[in-house]
Amino acid sequence: MAARNSISPQIEPMKRYLIQFAHEHLDFRVQEIRSILSLIGCQGIMKEKDLSDGSPFMEVELSSETVAKALMQRTVLSKRLYELWGEGTSVYDINTQIKQLPKEILEPYTSENSSFRIVVETFNKKLSTLEKISRIEKLTEPDSIFYGPIKLNCPDYSFHLLEFYHFDGTSQPASEPSKVYFGRWIADGQRARIQQYHLQKRHFIANTSMDACLSMVMANLGQIKDSDFVFDPFVGSGSLLVACAHYGAYVAGTDIDFLLLHARAKPSRAKQKTRSRNESVRSNLQQYGFESRYIDVLVADASRHKMWREGSQFDAIVTDPPYGIRESAARIANVENAKVKSLENGAQRYPQKTQYQLGDIFRDLLNFAAQFLIKGGRLVYWLPIYKPDYQESNIPQHPCLEVESNCEQPLNSTISRRLITMVKTGEFKGPESHGEQKASIAVDHYQCETFRQKYFKATEMEANEKEKGGPPSSSNSYS
Ligand SMILES: C[S@@+](CC[C@H](N)C(=O)[O-])C[C@H]1O[C@@H](n2cnc3c(N)ncnc32)[C@H](O)[C@@H]1O
Repeated sequence: MAARNSISPQIEPMKRYLIQFAHEHLDFRVQEIRSILSLIGCQGIMKEKDLSDGSPFMEVELSSETVAKALMQRTVLSKRLYELWGEGTSVYDINTQIKQLPKEILEPYTSENSSFRIVVETFNKKLSTLEKISRIEKLTEPDSIFYGPIKLNCPDYSFHLLEFYHFDGTSQPASEPSKVYFGRWIADGQRARIQQYHLQKRHFIANTSMDACLSMVMANLGQIKDSDFVFDPFVGSGSLLVACAHYGAYVAGTDIDFLLLHARAKPSRAKQKTRSRNESVRSNLQQYGFESRYIDVLVADASRHKMWREGSQFDAIVTDPPYGIRESAARIANVENAKVKSLENGAQRYPQKTQYQLGDIFRDLLNFAAQFLIKGGRLVYWLPIYKPDYQESNIPQHPCLEVESNCEQPLNSTISRRLITMVKTGEFKGPESHGEQKASIAVDHYQCETFRQKYFKATEMEANEKEKGGPPSSSNSYS
């Protein structure tokens, strides 16, 4: 595979747009947009501080509507994007501003031949229908900018009045909006994909299958594009392969769990007694029409890099390693004896496994990525964290890889996981250079206690807190 070329940014006057995010995976939203913009070779200036008081709105400057639409073609964490026509703290502010907009902006969308509608949406506060109508009337009064007919269904253009009320979650939301925006609707994001690829409807799932939304976010942070070759060394049920194949990648993976990959593991769905024979990663790709993108999966130990031919190259490695909570983190104990053997009595003998320490998993993963990624290729992986101990020096490093982003998904008050995206920036000088070019962790988060021990200690503490009447916390499935 050829090294990825970054397309040089166009120098064009920037226009103001507004992104409306979903209220989900807050820490990932800006990074997803940044990654998509860099993938499509476009610049964007984001006003990240717009999001700081819990608002779902962020202004972004982009060079054109084409770029704006391309961005919305990929993002799963954004609901909608608008061309921003006005912002302030009241409808009065909006009215004043839109009347001052230049003709070139207004005329194509507000002439007497253009039907339109105005949608009023509020956040953290509910408005009555009458209150909404009164706002629409103010914007469409006789001397307004709109000359065309109002049409509620399928108008030529949709305008949105968006009001954000500050709410700190404890008292009542503010009575007046802290921000009001007005914009012309341009495009929706890809939220519908979350239902399309929902695990409930997935043919084959495992105990730690990654949900559809985060799988797509990982593919976006990995900048997966058509004809990429993507690898998941801890493939499980292949959720990440599905998301990457959606963006046109050819996909492959390995997993140490022979029974899982051969549909003989305990079923993961409640009420299901046995797995059907054709529950497989391949059948998941078939389900969505991606079979032509499926290369294969192998039963293999990801710590054994020597099974790969030198010079093998992936455009991206997107993976969720085992953390030892719901899936065991294991490696083959004795490489000489690593084959599954059929015994005389018909039973099978599986190679003996031993515990695979988290620190080793991540060092191995980075060493693997440094060797087998193309230059410019991305490694995207989850790092489990015990929050009270976390510091940046826990992030594994490699001289050939640079951290591009680090987003946190809190799972409860003390446990979270971080999605780390790294880019291969340095040349790997060959396996013999492993000594000087090897992964390290400045402060190993898991040296004194395993993550499993930290996890159960934290869970026990939470349960005790709850018993004493402390605040409940959100809890998510965990690997
Ligand atoms: C968190 S799960 C991955 C889930 C997957 N992303 C999915 O959506 O189904 C981690 C996987 O790593 C596998 N695993 C554990 N140790 C391994 C090793 N040494 N080599 C390869 N796979 C391993 C486990 O069997 C498990 O399926």
